[in-house]
Amino acid sequence: MFGFTDKAAQGSFLHDVFTSVPPRYDLINHVITWGLDRRWRQLAARECLKASPERVLDICCGTGDLSLTIARLGGETIEVVGIDFSRPMLEIAERKAKSLGERHRLSFVRGDIAAIPFPDGHFDCIGISFAFRNLTYKNPAAGQYLAEVLRVLKVGGRFVIVESSQPRPGSRLIKRLHHLYVRHFVYRVGWLVSGNREAYRYLADSVVDYYGAKELQGLLIEAGFSRVTFHRLLLGAAAIHVAVK
Ligand SMILES: C[S@@+](CC[C@H](N)C(=O)[O-])C[C@H]1O[C@@H](n2cnc3c(N)ncnc32)[C@H](O)[C@@H]1O
Repeated sequence: MFGFTDKAAQGSFLHDVFTSVPPRYDLINHVITWGLDRRWRQLAARECLKASPERVLDICCGTGDLSLTIARLGGETIEVVGIDFSRPMLEIAERKAKSLGERHRLSFVRGDIAAIPFPDGHFDCIGISFAFRNLTYKNPAAGQYLAEVLRVLKVGGRFVIVESSQPRPGSRLIKRLHHLYVRHFVYRVGWLVSGNREAYRYLADSVVDYYGAKELQGLLIEAGFSRVTFHRLLLGAAAIHVAVK
């Protein structure tokens, strides 16, 4: 099981993971979710666009799929910024963005969520896809990340999270099958296709052990957000949370 007491050790472990997996990262995601990751990011992008934001930040943007979906669905005037600390992930994101053309105001910056390089209240909306777990699962810097998200989000702005979750409490059989699937199929496919065993052991441990939707709602309220709502996807295997500053 993973767990760090030291912020630097956790940050550097995650940084190493996400500089080694990028070449096969998208492929593995599509295989282990049977292609549903695209659909779930699209739902999150639509949530991000609900209040017609002018400026959106995609934190831990990785290879850029959520940023690109928001930019594509958001029209020509929306400004979308993706931020991530992994250079190889951002290089893939930049390549994909080129195919969108010049019309969209989409850019990527390299940076750590512990110190987001934008002024207070700069964004109308912040989105995150499949990375909130990385920021909050046994991560000693979780409080610092959440404080930064709150700082750069304007008052009334929405924070949209799509993340793995847990089947409803009481659905014990579904939970057991879900965990078997993650521990055996997801772990092995990830390890064999990426060549990085530790990365996918971390993924499997963190998915199995992560918060359920209600617990995550509580964490967001405790961090200072209000009006936190969620809906479960695929019997609770994933969930979308929306929190307002
Ligand atoms: C599982 S990937 C998710 C990528 C993308 N959002 C997606 O939907 O596929 C997690 C991403 O979070 C980034 N990341 C993790 N911790 C970070 C931090 N403290 N600051 C910036 N990026 C971070 C990693 O580099 C990686 O690209």
